[in-house]
Amino acid sequence: MSPISAPTPSLTLDPHSFAQGPALAHLMLALAVDFANQTLAGSATWRLATPSAEFTELVLDTRDLVIEQVWANAAGTGPEAPHTLGTPDATLGQALRIALPAGTAAVRIAYRTSPQAAALQWLAPAQTAGRYPFLFTQSQAILARTWLPCPDSPGRRFSYEAGVEILGEERGQLLALMSAENPQATAADGHYHFRQLQPVPAYLLALAVGRLDFAPLSTRTGIYAEPATLPRATHEFGELDHMVQAAEQLYGNYRWGRYDLLVLPSSFPFGGMENPCLTFVTPNILAGDRSLTSLVAHELAHSWSGNLVTNATWNDFWLNEGFTVYFERRIMEQLYGRPYADMLQVLGEADLHHTLQELGPASAATRLHLAGRNPDDGLNDIAYEKGCLLLLTLEHLVGRPRLDAFITEYFARFAFQSMDTDRFASYLTQALLTPAEAAHLNLPAWLDGPGLPPGAPTATSARLAGVDAVLARLATGTPPAELHYITKEWSSQEWEHFLRGLPPTLPAEAVARLDAAFHFTASGNAELLAAWFPLALRAGYAPADAALENFLRHVGRRKLLVPLYRALLGTPGGRARAQRIYQLARPNYHSVATGTLDALLAGG
Ligand code: BES
Ligand code: ZN
Repeated sequence: MSPISAPTPSLTLDPHSFAQGPALAHLMLALAVDFANQTLAGSATWRLATPSAEFTELVLDTRDLVIEQVWANAAGTGPEAPHTLGTPDATLGQALRIALPAGTAAVRIAYRTSPQAAALQWLAPAQTAGRYPFLFTQSQAILARTWLPCPDSPGRRFSYEAGVEILGEERGQLLALMSAENPQATAADGHYHFRQLQPVPAYLLALAVGRLDFAPLSTRTGIYAEPATLPRATHEFGELDHMVQAAEQLYGNYRWGRYDLLVLPSSFPFGGMENPCLTFVTPNILAGDRSLTSLVAHELAHSWSGNLVTNATWNDFWLNEGFTVYFERRIMEQLYGRPYADMLQVLGEADLHHTLQELGPASAATRLHLAGRNPDDGLNDIAYEKGCLLLLTLEHLVGRPRLDAFITEYFARFAFQSMDTDRFASYLTQALLTPAEAAHLNLPAWLDGPGLPPGAPTATSARLAGVDAVLARLATGTPPAELHYITKEWSSQEWEHFLRGLPPTLPAEAVARLDAAFHFTASGNAELLAAWFPLALRAGYAPADAALENFLRHVGRRKLLVPLYRALLGTPGGRARAQRIYQLARPNYHSVATGTLDALLAGG
């Protein structure tokens, strides 16, 4: 047998992509945004890194796309290039195989999206804070292929430019934005042009169109939001430039030009998404007191961990998220001090222990095994918090100066490249650890072992210990009102710890007393509400019902919704009630959320 030579030797095999063939260097996208028909239509033109000689075929990922015409040139002229669409797979979609004549330099594909495209959410005016329709994309993990034919694997990068034209009468009111250099004002003719000159993987392609205004925060940071939301958002994120400065001081220059935030309508299925140059965030972190901005530090940190050095496949997701959680907490420490960062770490560890309990220790390895699964179902807290804990373990082992120098060097050296778990492990042992330190660390146990390795550090927080003291006093009968002088100083994090620390089932009278004293049901803080409602549900505390229903009908963030529907399902008569609310709320959810919730709420 002849030796098998991989087409691109540095590429880790990705179980979630059909993409094969020559490397693609640059994408030219031309799209018309049609709100009336809920479609994007136009063309994707891919420039090959070098004109093809060895490859006779290019294979791209697609899902639910209508492929109209394909050419083996950039102009879209002459005869079509022969192409076929493979058998559809519910998760992966269909391979688009395009025959390449010798010397092909570019491929152009005319196509349109389907109204069901999973990455896209088309919002009616009533689902926004204003009077105009809204569109946004969510490409991570493998949904980019539902809005353009592409090599949809995090190991494949390309620069891009895009021409976006908004159709319809309202075009002059709508602003288009991408994960790229962005306009700051609406164009009367509805035409926009974008450039992202740094090479990015497909999961970082993003587009949003809506009635949006821009407010600068500094020369390189600013906020896009619906007009009704913008003033609150500029206040909430007033420290954005300080965050960027802190991040740069920690791990090196910000490499993406501007850093702006886009505050989405509340149906956005995540807390945040690190789209390059333009992080997307949920409006429910607008708590009014800047108490939930660690989420922005997290998305900003991805500008290094994830967007510069990218997980090679979704099995290596912890290289994106574990590093980012560690980095996020270092940024927050820089801005708000160690006691604040310690709270975040303790709460994160509580999440981790909760997830470990839920999954069982056997399925709690840091490195994932997602082949044959939808990555969207397999990406959980383990990658985030166990990954972060590995970095904290390294911090304790070698000290911050050595670890920080290592991380800075890692981002610089592997910038704009992908990294898999094995390559990281060997780089770590070679560039940071002495043999004795490596032996002490036991990396295999961290990466592939169950549960937590012995010797995993445990954080403590003086501020959260203060919360524990209040919980103890309540348990021994102190009336809640007598504790106000302490609780009035509390942040979101302390309240979250408080709510998690209450006995899981309380009688309705006890829940009523807590609500009377601390006004949870009336809170405007989504994280607090999400921690409060399960207690109210388990207690059968009816005064929270209307607020819960309102929450479920307006918030689209999957991470908050899933535990609430679960809690609802666990109450007497809960299934019928959950299904009734879900039926009303479902039109407001993105496919990422309904994908999970449909399964949870199915059946009777
Ligand atoms: N990149 C993730 C969001 C994501 C992960 C989307 C996997 C699709 C698949 C983002 O950086 C993230 O982690 N968001 C978190 C917030 C963060 C503070 C933990 C979220 O949305 O909850
Ligand atoms: Zn993240």
